[in-house]
Amino acid sequence: MNCTNNTIGCILYNAKMLLKNSKIETYSLDAEILLCYLLNVDRIMLVINNDMILSNDQIEEYNKLINRRLLNEPIAYITNKSEFMGIDFYVNNNVLIPRPETETLVELVIDYIGENKNLTILDMCTGSGCIPISLSKYCNNLNILALDISEDALNIAKKNDISNSIYFFKSDMFKNIPKKYKNNLDIIISNPPYIETSVIDTLGENVKKYEPIIALDGKEDGLFFYREISNNAKYFLKPKGIIFLEIGYNQAQNVKNIFLDNGFSNISIKKDLSGLDRIVVVSR
Ligand SMILES: C[S@@+](CC[C@H](N)C(=O)[O-])C[C@H]1O[C@@H](n2cnc3c(N)ncnc32)[C@H](O)[C@@H]1O
Repeated sequence: MNCTNNTIGCILYNAKMLLKNSKIETYSLDAEILLCYLLNVDRIMLVINNDMILSNDQIEEYNKLINRRLLNEPIAYITNKSEFMGIDFYVNNNVLIPRPETETLVELVIDYIGENKNLTILDMCTGSGCIPISLSKYCNNLNILALDISEDALNIAKKNDISNSIYFFKSDMFKNIPKKYKNNLDIIISNPPYIETSVIDTLGENVKKYEPIIALDGKEDGLFFYREISNNAKYFLKPKGIIFLEIGYNQAQNVKNIFLDNGFSNISIKKDLSGLDRIVVVSR
């Protein structure tokens, strides 16, 4: 039964029921996040102000947000915000929404860097810039560069880099990396597109309808970008350079083989917090 007044409590209840009936699992949290976003308040304020009356304009705007969610648009794109490594990133549908698995990748790199300073690090396929911006926040005195093929993504990454500490540039993988970085990188890090083209159609609507295909599509067998990195990294890494890559949970052996075939022998696989193979570390 619908609740029929214009209080926060009532409007929220109706929105939750709508989302629940549309099988949106996180219906309660989503309804609250969207109302907080609209009113620009914290969630606790919704409880404290449960009896506050919303204006007709506010209700109309809220209904628009709920309707977007009913169409499966991710909350992060509706609110233009996603948290990663404790940092708020601006996101829209030109960039992948940063995933928790990628935090494991960043944490590994932070551990590896330790107290080392003046390292030169390249993030390939940077998207929102979540990887290099996190490294820049949690480690000192790094020289970080980051590339993406998408200009729209790069504009968002630059907007997220509020301390202006990263050199972002447009490049189709290794093609436009400035010559001065040849044999000069300490670390290459990447979370490239790694989904097989034929699998993309089977993904949830929230992903396949809203996230950029260019951020998902790892081409025919999902391994295209690992081959690119394996074929070219040796020209850019220092002799003791290292590569950190996020992979799909079932790609570890294939990615390992790609690097073995290219003469790399020091390869290890790390798991994510769910216990799935998620990261490949390759050193020269
Ligand atoms: C899986 S997303 C990763 C985004 C971000 N690094 C993260 O972890 O959330 C892959 C990114 O690769 C970029 N990309 C796709 N093809 C590329 C190419 N040929 N060269 C460089 N970047 C590419 C996409 O634009 C997208 O931003």
